[in-house]
This record gives sequence, C-alpha cells and structure tokens, in this order.
Amino acid sequence: HTSDAPHTPSGVPVVDVTATGPGRTPIQQVMALMREHGPVLVRRLHGRETLFVGDLDLVADLADEKRFAKHVGPALENVREFAADGLFTAYNDEPNWARAHDILMPAFALGSMRTYHPVMLEVARRLIASWDRSAGTGQPVNVPDDMTRMTLDTIGLAGFGYDFGSFGRDEPHPFVEAMVRCLEWSMNRLARTPGEDHSAADAAFRDDSAYLAQVVDDVIASRTGTGAGAEGDAEDLLGLMLTARHPVDGSRLDTANIRNQVITFLIAGHETTSGAMSFALYHLAKDPTALRLVQREADALWGDRADPEPTYEEVGRLTHTRQVLNEALRLWPTAAAFSRHALADTLLGGRIPLRAGQAVTVLAPMLHRQPVWGDNPELFDPSRFTPEAEEARSVHAFKPFGTGERACIGRQFALHEATMLLAMLAMLAMLAMLVHRYRLHDHADYALQVKETLTLKPEGFTLTLTPRTAAD
Ligand code: HEM
Repeated sequence: HTSDAPHTPSGVPVVDVTATGPGRTPIQQVMALMREHGPVLVRRLHGRETLFVGDLDLVADLADEKRFAKHVGPALENVREFAADGLFTAYNDEPNWARAHDILMPAFALGSMRTYHPVMLEVARRLIASWDRSAGTGQPVNVPDDMTRMTLDTIGLAGFGYDFGSFGRDEPHPFVEAMVRCLEWSMNRLARTPGEDHSAADAAFRDDSAYLAQVVDDVIASRTGTGAGAEGDAEDLLGLMLTARHPVDGSRLDTANIRNQVITFLIAGHETTSGAMSFALYHLAKDPTALRLVQREADALWGDRADPEPTYEEVGRLTHTRQVLNEALRLWPTAAAFSRHALADTLLGGRIPLRAGQAVTVLAPMLHRQPVWGDNPELFDPSRFTPEAEEARSVHAFKPFGTGERACIGRQFALHEATMLLAMLAMLAMLAMLVHRYRLHDHADYALQVKETLTLKPEGFTLTLTPRTAAD
C-alpha cells in the first residue's frame, strides 16, 4: 500500500476524519480507510488519535499476553456507564474481574450444556412456531429482529431463569430497545464535537440505563423473592452469583456487582449472537450451494422428522454448519473491534514504537480479509474452515472472540477444538433446525446494509419461508 496521507515517524498513515466525523457506521469507515491506506493506520478525530490494526503479524504480536493486555478504551468506558465493573468492561486489575471470572467460569464448562440445552430447545420451539405462522401466511420474517427475540429469551432463561417472552410481543421487549439505545449512545458519544450541547441525549441515556437496572433488579428479585428453594438452582449464572463462593478465598459477589454482571450478560450474550445468526442466514439465503450442504447435513441426522430435538452429540457433528457460522463471523465479526495496551514500552511487530499503556485497536473485519485468506477475501467460502485449512493457517488470523484471558468467556473450554464456544453450540443447533424445516426465499433481493450499534447486524434483512417437503 502506498498512502499519500501524512505518516508517523515509523511510517503509519495518519488520517483525520474530523471534517465528516465517524458517522453512523464507524467500523465500516475504518474498513474503508484501511482499504485505501493499508491495514495499519492512525485515525485522528478532534485531535484524539486511535491506532487501528488489521495486519496479521501485528495482531499475532498483540496476542502476546506477556507484553499486552486488554484495554478498556473510550467505547468501553462509555459502556461502563451502564455495565460498570461487569466482566466485559472491568479493568484487568479491578478485583471484581478475577473474582467474577473464577466464580462464573464453571457455568461455561461444557457440562453446563446440560442445563443450557433444554432451554435452547424450548426457545427454538417458540421461534419455529412463529416462523410456521409466517410461512402459513406468506408474510416475510424480519431475521435480525427474530434472532434478537431468540437470543434474549435464551440468555434470560438459561442465565437467570427469567422469561422475556419476546415471541409474544409485536415490538421488541422494551429492555432490548433501551439497551440498543444505550449502546448507540456509547457509540455516538465517541463522535461528539467538543463544545456541543448533548444534555438531552445524556438525560435520555440516564433514563434508559436506570430502566435497565430496574429490569435487572426485577430479574434478581424474581429469583430471590419466591421463597424456599428459589436460590437452589445454583447451576445457572444467577444461581452461581447468588450462592457460590470464590474457589480459593471464599469471597462472594456483592449486590451491585451482580447487577452489573446481569446487565453485562444480557448485552454480551445476545446482541453479538443474534447478529452472527443473522449474517449466517443472510449468507445461506444468498448461497444455494452452502445452503444445500448444511441442509444435507441436517437431513442426514434427522431425515424427514418434522420436529427433531438435536442432541448434544448431534450438534458436535454439524461440520458444514459450523463452517458456515465461522465464515459468517469471518466476514462480519459482530463484535468487530477489541483493544489492547502495551504493558511496557515496546516495538509492535518490531516496527511501531508504543509507550507503556498506549492502546491499539484490532479491527477484526480487516484482519479477516488479509492476504492469509487468499486472493478473494470478500467471497463467502465455508471451506476456509475445513480442518486442513485451519491447520495450515495461523491461529491469529481469526479473532471474532477476542484474545487471551479477556477473550469471550467460555472459549477456554474445548470440545472438538480449542475455539468452540458454548454459544456456538446453541447457534449451530438453531441454524440446523431452521434449514432443516424451511426453504429460505430472498424475496426482496436483499442488498446487505450493515447497521452498527457497537455490534454489527444486517439491517432490514427479511426472508419468506415455505416448509420443506421430502422433494426439496
Ligand atoms: C468478551 C465476542 C457471545 C459473554 C467478548 C470479546 C469478544 C466477544 C470479541 C472480547 C472483548 C474485548 O477484548 O474487549 C462475542 C461474539 C459472540 C459472543 C462474536 C457470539 C457470536 C457471547 C455470549 C456470552 C458472552 C453468548 C454470554 C452468555 C462475554 C463476556 C465477555 C465477552 C462475559 C467478557 C469476558 C472477560 O473479559 O472476562 N466476547 N461474544 N459472549 N463475552 Fe462474548
């Protein structure tokens, strides 16, 4: 790449976006800048500078936990305004991070799939009942909206024994609307021009975050207030938070932290997952060959059974479905950026000087389009995730779940390979059930439009459905 932008002394292009601002799609703006200036650049906005990287060797270097750690940058500082010291936004050295991490990890061990699985099936039945009705009338379904209903109900029931009942509502649950507005506030606050008056937006944000806290207090009260045995279900996240002690020092989570964790899990556990499911369905609707492969795989397991209940073991055999989901997360990693900071003065990749504490933001969608992915990185091609292809590629080329000890929770537990996430299993089962049951029609010839609310989603993506018959 030859960029005509000004450069830092070490040769990194500096691009000032103050004139236009980052707009409503800041991730896609940096993607466009990287296409023009190369995969390492400094974005300057109102005098604030952010170093963005997508280069494989630099991301591999940043994964070195001895020299770098998670950075809570401006975006997460804003999320801290409503999630405080929850796991996702806690500082590395905040005692509540390690305490909550150690207490909650068992909930993400694979054994806990046994608690999670029946809930996942119950929510799958709700989604299918809703999609059956739409198939019957020929009405389109709004894919991201329904995926959000599905993932909110799943994390609510599986994590906290609380039923949001999202499929019984025409509009999203008010919790979702308030949460999305809080995320949008966090994102838009980054783009503010100094000196402008944002008191109305800030007041609306405070109302929304107070509402989130109130819903969460209801969730907690509905567990603690119902008398004998109510806390007995220590298997799920809330049960662990209310009852479990730290394995080493015996400490417990305090009430304020429990509230922050519940908000954190409701955000982290459902926005990213519903986006990932939506992108996977988008690519399947656009790619008949990939759809055929995942349908054949589901058919091989379940034949023409109308209502299969995927077992845990069956989900592990959904090889093509997993490749499709990974490939969707390659092109559109729904948590698109994560940040690291240097623990001491160092040279990033041997060429970019960083001071201790200085931050670097990894832009996963561009990492996932680097030359290591071949000549045509925009092409949706699930065979990039065959075991042989994965074997041949650096583990740092694919980072949809972040890196190191602050990566997405549950990544540490291996199923068939080290990157298998509990949430992945649920997503796989759902996708397979949906393609087994329906033909997907891209009735509106949907043109991809990626909406950003800190996370990514295909905006306005609708499908019509017809039941599959034996002849399909
Ligand atoms: C952290 C992505 C699903 C809970 C993260 C991070 C990423 C990520 C990139 C690291 C952020 C950073 O470094 O700043 C995703 C994606 C998902 C997903 C793409 C789905 C496709 C989930 C689910 C849950 C969850 C289902 C919970 C039920 C968390 C938590 C953290 C986290 C608690 C913070 C971990 C810590 O720092 O201790 N996730 N996630 N995520 N994720 Fe996920």
